[in-house]
Amino acid sequence: MLDIQRLVAGYGPLVVVRDIDLSVSAGEISVLIGRNGVGKTTLLRAVAGHRRATEGSVAVAGEEVTSFPPHRRARAGIAYVPQGRDIFGTLTVKENLLVAVKAMRMRDPSRRLAEILDMLPLLGEKLQDRGASLSGGQQQILAIGRALISDPKVLLLDEPSEGIQPSIVAEIAETVARIAQERGLAVLVVEQNLDFVAKVAERVRVIDRGQIVANLRVEDLVREESLQHQYLGV
Ligand SMILES: Nc1ncnc2c1ncn2[C@@H]1O[C@H](COP(=O)(O)OP(=O)(O)OP(=O)(O)O)[C@@H](O)[C@H]1O
Ligand SMILES: [Mg+2]
Repeated sequence: MLDIQRLVAGYGPLVVVRDIDLSVSAGEISVLIGRNGVGKTTLLRAVAGHRRATEGSVAVAGEEVTSFPPHRRARAGIAYVPQGRDIFGTLTVKENLLVAVKAMRMRDPSRRLAEILDMLPLLGEKLQDRGASLSGGQQQILAIGRALISDPKVLLLDEPSEGIQPSIVAEIAETVARIAQERGLAVLVVEQNLDFVAKVAERVRVIDRGQIVANLRVEDLVREESLQHQYLGV
């Protein structure tokens, strides 16, 4: 569903992501881990279209989107939840969702909204609450709900458990796993939290200095502190 080939991206002369090859199929959750500053966010930005790739290609369901700006990639089926979530704190949950509805110029927004509330019932209970009043976990669910408005084929999540109470991390992971399965979504998630990772995947890819350097079993990573030290810097 998502096919990334030999992707190179960075900031001006600074090359941050090098030669990334990665495919995620429908219903699959693919996890990337790596130390701080190795290029995880830059990779997701390059897939979402917020950074232009200098080489390589990105395709969704066979359609090449490499030259598309972000809004056209969204139309092609890529949804992106950035690190830190970026929800509007002064707007209500409903208004946050409607911003996405407007951005997509949807034909039947009320039906889509109802579907989202069906998938993420928590949001239905909080519709009139302001974004800033939600807990970290609730904000993450809102950010995911907002991303799903476009009925994407691919969902990019950048550290969804960051800033979330440990007791809620597993819940967020289960929600992501359920949605991926129910919607046949291809999910590419950057995550450092092993509790989250263990709930959604059996294997992880490790990114270091912009390249995929290893493909590990989550079980081994959880068990072996030396691997965590080597690849996560913890
Ligand atoms: N807007 C920018 N302009 C220039 N350099 C940037 C910019 N954003 C990130 N970088 C650099 O690119 C490199 C990779 O950053 P990136 O944010 O992709 O890493 P990351 O793996 O997501 O890190 P973290 O774990 O801290 O989120 C870093 O060296 C960073 O300083
Ligand atoms: Mg990052």
